[in-house]
Amino acid sequence: MKVVGGSASVPLARGIANELKTASVDVAFEKHPGGFPDGERYVRLRDSLAGEHVALVQTTHPDSMIIELLLLADAIHDAGARRLTAVVPYFGYGRQDKRFLDGEPVSAKTIAKHLAVNCDELLTMAIHNPGMLKTFPLPARDVSGMPAIGRYLKTAKVDMLLAPDGNAIRFAKEASAIAGVPFDSLEKKRIDSYTVKITPKALAVRGKSVAIVDDVISTGGTIAMAAKELRAQGARRVIAACLHGLFVGPAEANLKACDDVIATDTILSRYTKVSVAPEFAAAIRALG
Ligand code: R5P
Repeated sequence: MKVVGGSASVPLARGIANELKTASVDVAFEKHPGGFPDGERYVRLRDSLAGEHVALVQTTHPDSMIIELLLLADAIHDAGARRLTAVVPYFGYGRQDKRFLDGEPVSAKTIAKHLAVNCDELLTMAIHNPGMLKTFPLPARDVSGMPAIGRYLKTAKVDMLLAPDGNAIRFAKEASAIAGVPFDSLEKKRIDSYTVKITPKALAVRGKSVAIVDDVISTGGTIAMAAKELRAQGARRVIAACLHGLFVGPAEANLKACDDVIATDTILSRYTKVSVAPEFAAAIRALG
């Protein structure tokens, strides 16, 4: 087994390799210092992969990382790897999981079709609609990252967890079992890409330290609304924890509503404080 990391996921790939007690393959991402002037991606494998089972770890944000993922998969295949497992920690385009309007692609499936050209199987994490994995043209499994968040929150002295909407309940529930604290939830209505509305609900949070747990923080609008509700109801400390920290648009301003923000290494950012390497390593071991 060898582990190859794309440029968006080098630390996670190294972490997975360490967990598996194997080598992380050296990859060059620039042909010339500074890269190509037009921003095109470049990859070159610097180790031999002939006959190996290779885990290729690459997240799909921003979009250029998808190109890099496909280039690496092709290079690994051409280098004679015996088996290729794509580890896509954040599966972009997951929200376009069906044809909402005539003429649209099912974008998540488009990505999967391209991966299937060279990859034998796919492991991902908290894809928007895990049910759609069975429609992918390669075996695919959604790996839970919530144990990693739960382990972190166990040491972060929180009194309870909060799911900011119905979708996040399953995540908060799983993390709360590991952190050993209870959880509650709110109901959210999305008005547009930037605006959400939270239905008022009494929460037992006065004087408490609360972690809002979600799969994704994008604009931070959801977290800001939930944090505002928690403060209004007397929470002493509010932290936000997510698997995938996209942090786009007004996220920085929105996250000022929190005392701390925690994200995993599925997408690297200044909030990355937790690694999901143990979760992916366990899933790779379980492949057999
Ligand atoms: C939606 O169901 C997701 O679980 C997140 O709550 C959402 O993607 C967060 O987006 P934003 O940070 O823009 O509110």
